[in-house]
Amino acid sequence: MVYHIGNTVVNIPESIDEFNKTSARYMMEQVNKKPDSVMGFATGGTPVGAYRELIELYKSGRISFEMVKSFNLDEYYPIKKDNSQSYFRYMNENLFNHIDIKPENVHLPCGEAVDPNTECDAYEKKIIAAGGIDFQLLGIGTNGHIGFNEPDDKFPCKTHLVGLNQSTIDDNARFFDSRDEVPRKALTMGIKTIMSAKKILFIASGANKAAIIKEAFFGDITPHVPASVLQLHTSVIIVLDEAAAADIKDKLE
Ligand code: F6R
Repeated sequence: MVYHIGNTVVNIPESIDEFNKTSARYMMEQVNKKPDSVMGFATGGTPVGAYRELIELYKSGRISFEMVKSFNLDEYYPIKKDNSQSYFRYMNENLFNHIDIKPENVHLPCGEAVDPNTECDAYEKKIIAAGGIDFQLLGIGTNGHIGFNEPDDKFPCKTHLVGLNQSTIDDNARFFDSRDEVPRKALTMGIKTIMSAKKILFIASGANKAAIIKEAFFGDITPHVPASVLQLHTSVIIVLDEAAAADIKDKLE
């Protein structure tokens, strides 16, 4: 079903299969409309199914990434590229190895950088040199983070080094053998970097996201709920599963 918050379209597909297909379809529409799109990609559990769908669309000849440039939102710091939980590896395994994107057009903040601040400045410059992000895929943390912009007293601006909150470490421990192995820091695009994207596809699934989705889209705009800044973006598309939409369903038009 399709609902609205003001002018923002909120898709609530009936199954997880449709959730993944809907999310992938928005990305395909962007690339087919502008084959040299600069795509901002996210990691985490939520987009895995959408990436799987994108791979299927590629295999069936309905999309090509030959001219696409990509920039990922974030990467743990420090982390080796070949670590099984690096976002570098995640993107290769879940998407890039299976499509025709050119390796030289793929960008992630480097978790192996000797100087993280230099790496962040260089990353921000590369995004600007590419003409900015046309289409940014976003998930949301249970604490409201987007990218790894954690709740704070102010919105961080550009790509930067961040200390992960305990709640993020706890949430992401499920991907690692133990909580102790979760890196305590990350490199992430800033809120301004994200908000400069021309279009944003926001996706969330699962009951553990329901409360924060309500705060993000119906609460105050505050750096304590970083995703709430999206209320100020003029081109956001939302895709939620039923569980993530549970607390806002009665507020949708
Ligand atoms: C990942 C990212 C994060 C995740 C968020 C949700 O690149 O930027 O903001 O989108 O932590 O993660 P999952 O999908 O695992 O619930």
